[in-house]
Amino acid sequence: MSRERRFYVDSARVDEVSEVLRDGLVHGVTTNPTILERAHRSVADAPELYARWVSEGAHEVFFQAWGESRGQLLHAAEGILALGPKAVVKVPATRDGFVAAAELSRSGATVLLTAVYSPAQALMAATLGVRYIAPYLGRMQDSGLDGIAEIAEMTALVAGSGTDVLAASLRTPDAIVALAVVGVPYFTAAPAVILAVLHHDVSERSSMEFEAAVARGLQRA
Ligand code: G3P
Repeated sequence: MSRERRFYVDSARVDEVSEVLRDGLVHGVTTNPTILERAHRSVADAPELYARWVSEGAHEVFFQAWGESRGQLLHAAEGILALGPKAVVKVPATRDGFVAAAELSRSGATVLLTAVYSPAQALMAATLGVRYIAPYLGRMQDSGLDGIAEIAEMTALVAGSGTDVLAASLRTPDAIVALAVVGVPYFTAAPAVILAVLHHDVSERSSMEFEAAVARGLQRA
């Protein structure tokens, strides 16, 4: 049985994002406040970035809600959802974040609960009808956790619930493959990691050999 898989690009550096979007390699763009800051951007740029990325082919554009209470998170989420039908709101997996994510999901919004670190949090997200959960593989591994095993357990727990794992903090193609093997369907990574997924030295050498054969054939013709 086939199951859809998708890559997203995890960046707000517009030149790099545009390249992979226009080339049709990714389904959408994920951001968070840190990613915006690294690109010298802020939430004030969300309308411009949303319009740009949708025009370049993004099917989903993720911005993260902010605030120290569920009321503030909901207020920020409303602004994000008002960007357009392809906007997805991210909410951190804190107590207030869970409550806000539940309310937004009940009202029909597409919500991603971000920085999910435990299978128990994943299970709760699934009971609340949250569309995506984002565990951070690299950061789990940085803190000594067996990130692949944790995310495999999350994937099994949410299977068939309408909640899917969209894994983040993915730093190498091998990390992505290890998660795909345990059933993770969706992946977000920096542009350089997306491009690294495409690359293999032997593929490049093979391509050069094919080109050389074509050139020799044309010389003989
Ligand atoms: O979307 C998650 C990403 O911002 C974290 O990546 O590599 O800084 O852990 P990293």
